[in-house]
Amino acid sequence: MIVKVGAIGAGSMASGHFNNLNEFEDVEFVAFCDISEDRARQRCQEYGGNAYTDFAKMYDKERLDAVYICTPPFAHGQSELMAIERGIQIFVEKPIATTMETAHQINEAIENSSTISSVGYHWRYQSNVDKAIEVLDGVQIIGAMGYWMGGMPGVGWWRTREGSGGQHVEQTTHIFDLCRYLVGSDVVAVHGFAADGSMSDIPNYDVDDMSIINIQFANGTIANITSACMLKGFGRVKLEIFSNGLVVDVSSGSIKINREDETETYANEVNGYQHEDRVFINAVKSKNGSKIRSPYEDALKTLQITLAASESFITGKQVDLT
Ligand SMILES: NC(=O)c1ccc[n+]([C@@H]2O[C@H](COP(=O)([O-])OP(=O)(O)OC[C@H]3O[C@@H](n4cnc5c(N)ncnc54)[C@H](O)[C@@H]3O)[C@@H](O)[C@H]2O)c1
Repeated sequence: MIVKVGAIGAGSMASGHFNNLNEFEDVEFVAFCDISEDRARQRCQEYGGNAYTDFAKMYDKERLDAVYICTPPFAHGQSELMAIERGIQIFVEKPIATTMETAHQINEAIENSSTISSVGYHWRYQSNVDKAIEVLDGVQIIGAMGYWMGGMPGVGWWRTREGSGGQHVEQTTHIFDLCRYLVGSDVVAVHGFAADGSMSDIPNYDVDDMSIINIQFANGTIANITSACMLKGFGRVKLEIFSNGLVVDVSSGSIKINREDETETYANEVNGYQHEDRVFINAVKSKNGSKIRSPYEDALKTLQITLAASESFITGKQVDLT
């Protein structure tokens, strides 16, 4: 079977997926949709297919097996719902939305249909993360500490709460998701503080410069995940998991396992983006989503934590998710 793929949002993240899909012999690009006609046309020149600026027209005119939805966070909703209505399988970039209302609506539509969904939490597909899962098997995780400290991405929508939800929702979401994946329990409580004021020279900027978020899981594990976006060109990103006599330190390219008098290091050997794309296309072909490591319903739980933190920044109170 050749999987006929369309795409909505043809920006920088989409390019990564298109390059991967272009390597697969069982994928054909049928259409690209972007509100920028130039961008949609450019993609068609590169990969083939027809250009659209309106996804409703694309869905009506083309016969798609799957669609990659790589729009900015604020733009999710109808693009997913219309695909689900038409029996098109969906790959959605993280974060899946900026409101729980939109995410629940889409999730309900997925649950009421046989739609295969995958969300772009590519860390879950890396071999260093597989190693973490192996090392932590049967281990009681006491706590975790993670952070995404860096600079501000250049895209305009990122710097507004309305556009991206803020750094913890858009970027550090990978660390929240990884923490959930490794701890393997649901989050029951979230509390956070945010700080602003050092980026007032940037037009339209209204997200937080830094945030510190505390989480409690149902199994008793506690975590702290911090974000900062004012570091300008240098940064650090990781998640450390703490257990009795064991620290598992996961960064994007490696894992360090610290035990008393012993440190083992492993490099990541799997391109998580490519692997997640392969697994999604295989799922579409086989109509079996069981190998997908981040289906929509699961990604929804990661969004829920970060949006609960946004609420806590404002109220100063803990948000219970039970
Ligand atoms: N998984 C990852 O590691 C990773 C990395 C970067 C970005 N992302 C995610 O990918 C998504 C896109 O990010 P990006 O960096 O490619 O942004 P971008 O701004 O480069 O691209 C977004 C594209 O979507 C188009 N667009 C906006 N609204 C649209 C609509 N309603 N219909 C059709 N097209 C629309 C824009 O014109 C633009 O071309 C974001 O959710 C981001 O969080 C994920």
